[in-house]
Amino acid sequence: MSIHPKIPKILLEREPSISSPAIIYDYNSIVSTVLKIKNDIDIIPNVELCFAIKANRNRNILKILSDLGLGADVASIHELNIAKEVGINPIYSTSPVYSEEFLEELFRSDITPDFNSLSQLGKYVNKYNLNEIGIRIKVPLNLSNSDITYGEKSRFGIDIDSTDYIEYMRDKNLKIKQIHFHLGELQNSSVIKNVMEYITLISNRFQDLEVINIGGGLTYLYSDETEVKKSWETVKENILLINKGFNREIKVVIEPGMLVLAMSGYLYSKVQSSDFVNNKRIVTLDCSAWNLTHWAYPVLVQSYSDSINAEEHTIAGNTCYENDIFISSENHRILKINDGLLMTPVGAYVASMARSMHGYPLPNEWILKDDNFIKAGDYL
Ligand SMILES: Cc1ncc(COP(=O)(O)O)c(C=O)c1O
Repeated sequence: MSIHPKIPKILLEREPSISSPAIIYDYNSIVSTVLKIKNDIDIIPNVELCFAIKANRNRNILKILSDLGLGADVASIHELNIAKEVGINPIYSTSPVYSEEFLEELFRSDITPDFNSLSQLGKYVNKYNLNEIGIRIKVPLNLSNSDITYGEKSRFGIDIDSTDYIEYMRDKNLKIKQIHFHLGELQNSSVIKNVMEYITLISNRFQDLEVINIGGGLTYLYSDETEVKKSWETVKENILLINKGFNREIKVVIEPGMLVLAMSGYLYSKVQSSDFVNNKRIVTLDCSAWNLTHWAYPVLVQSYSDSINAEEHTIAGNTCYENDIFISSENHRILKINDGLLMTPVGAYVASMARSMHGYPLPNEWILKDDNFIKAGDYL
């Protein structure tokens, strides 16, 4: 991984004196991750780094990102309200569907929505007398052997080659100021090359274009530094070509979520039961994998056990669901009742999409900064 934050020394040296369970965000990791991404994309002219708020809505975390110069991508009125409250700027938006309330709030905030479908355009263009809009486009990549990158088979985006789209646009006098895509994972430089060549090819169909938003999905890409470098070079080259065609600079928005925060979050939890069953130690924690980590694949990075002997462990969550398992097999010093442990990565898509089986609340959230634990506010 070309972004691999170091576990803070204080977490390695001693057990945190906060209540369990808790999500701990490491401030230094957030800063170094953001600086690394910013430094990488800096070669692209007129580029803007935003954070996809769907990955984390914690106001205190968003304030850190805002102070580091990030903008935001919002997909709901709730995300928009939080972004405005925090003062994060600029804000971009695409959503599978817009409610009237959400759209009106976007208009009041002078934000152009990037519509995801023709039927949503049909619903709103006349109603609000829209003449300048953004659209999310479907990129016709045939990626039949990939289950992480979604091209032409994606359920999102408008097919700009369809007769319906062409006829709709012929009918209306709409200025398309923004085009937006998000393909799941932009997993390597060859996918990015294909996508960018397509965008360059079609760009002259959007004579009023001001913004190209290339979405997020950079986590796989960042497993290989050479691919990272190649990819941003390709984006740069294509944007230069597009700018040349327009004879002006188009803004490029990049809006990752997972990559920005995932690795900076640690789940602190304590063992509630520890039994040797079927040749394995089953430990159950005070929080649930089912509730918290269905989009994260946690690894155990530290435990505060004083045991000496190691055993094979299964680390389970505290719901009645049989498959509520954080880690199914881990050889580790014996974890006993009340031992604390830390798992990562939980900084993105954990708190923001947690389930609440058995009514369990979210873990408290803390920011670890200068060896101090700062309460990261109540999660709303
Ligand atoms: C439109 C859009 N932008 C950005 C993202 C962020 O993706 P990731 O967290 O993988 O970077 C998503 C994720 O679903 C998305 O739908």
